[in-house]
Amino acid sequence: MADSSTVSRGLEGVVAASTKLSDVRGDIGQLIYCGYDINELAGQVSYEEVVHLLHYGHLPNKRELADLKAQMASEREIPQQIIDMIKGFPKDTPPMHVVRSGISALGCLDQERDADTPEKRREICIRIAARIPVVTAYFHRIRQGKEIIPSDPNLSEAANFLYLLDGQTPEPEKEKTIDLCYVLHADHGMNASTFSARVTIATLSDIYSAITTAIGTLKGPLHGGANEGVIKMLQEIGTLENVDDYIGDCLRNKKKVMGIGHRIYKTLDPRAPHLRKMAHILSEKMGEAKWIKMSDRIADIMLKEKNLHANVDFYSATVYYTLGIPVDLYTPIFAIARTAGWTAHVLEQLADNRLIRPQSSYIGPEGLKVTPIEQRQ
Ligand code: COA
Repeated sequence: MADSSTVSRGLEGVVAASTKLSDVRGDIGQLIYCGYDINELAGQVSYEEVVHLLHYGHLPNKRELADLKAQMASEREIPQQIIDMIKGFPKDTPPMHVVRSGISALGCLDQERDADTPEKRREICIRIAARIPVVTAYFHRIRQGKEIIPSDPNLSEAANFLYLLDGQTPEPEKEKTIDLCYVLHADHGMNASTFSARVTIATLSDIYSAITTAIGTLKGPLHGGANEGVIKMLQEIGTLENVDDYIGDCLRNKKKVMGIGHRIYKTLDPRAPHLRKMAHILSEKMGEAKWIKMSDRIADIMLKEKNLHANVDFYSATVYYTLGIPVDLYTPIFAIARTAGWTAHVLEQLADNRLIRPQSSYIGPEGLKVTPIEQRQ
């Protein structure tokens, strides 16, 4: 029996795996992808380059990038059965449910799902990464009663997703913004959803199951769901003048302020300033400065009162809102980007696998005797 004094609530401080993929240095506010500081990558490389980096350990040269882009573009089409399944879901289904079920169902139709060579497994990973935006965008069109449109192989991952949502090739700035959001969200050490993906694949289940697990884990408001929570909170607060009272009330009642705080970062989340900068630029352009002003005020109060910093979700919410993206697609966008990291972690786990099986400390009763059912209260 495990000793209860060794329990780490929420596995805080527990090192669950070695990885070459990414490192979150919470004490100094640094995030590394395969040796590159996120500040070095952000604005200099595309999401597809980051997918290559995480999957092959190095940034692609021109030919490698072209090959990966062509591979992703060729894998985008989803089977009619999946489209029919999505059409059958109630229109008010939260999109994260659809994304989770869509990826799970894609596994039913993929005859290569139990592939056991590294190359074939990598193909499945790229296939999933290419299809998750399509599942998301198709559901969005279907729920609006619109026709779905085929992907455009000439568009980047970010642009194609926006194209599938709106039916129009996006402005370069909008594409660039979503691409940067993808880059910033692509991987993040042993976060909850990545851990859950590794736990699933470590049983030698299949890649679709591992990614389905990860999507379900990301969905929660303490993880990827926080970005939706941020905008809902901003809407509830309504005006800059109401911020102080609202946050004061949260603090008095120990209510969590969405988008604030982090298990690992005890200083600024290095992704937040990139998103904050984007949020400021977009807000100024759109003439909707209210949300970013409210966000900045909330961040100031939380830092002063609780020494807690804004995290990645805090400003990404304002960025997506200003771009006119529906609120319930914020977490699916996070899932789309994080599929790069999840799939890379799954392959890394398989390359040196051992079942992940922690213990629990039993704190229930002992020695009970069975009472015949007729005599039970
Ligand atoms: N708002 C208000 N207080 C917060 C807070 C927040 N967002 N985040 C942490 N705290 C406070 C807790 O109330 C607690 O205070 P106490 O010691 O006075 O009771 C302390 O900070 C520790 O919080 P805890 O929830 O134990 O930290 P954690 O490491 O388990 O949780 C998060 C980390 C991210 C889950 C947490 O900060 C949170 O819930 N944030 C909001 C959701 C969010 O933005 N998630 C996205 C993360 S990228």
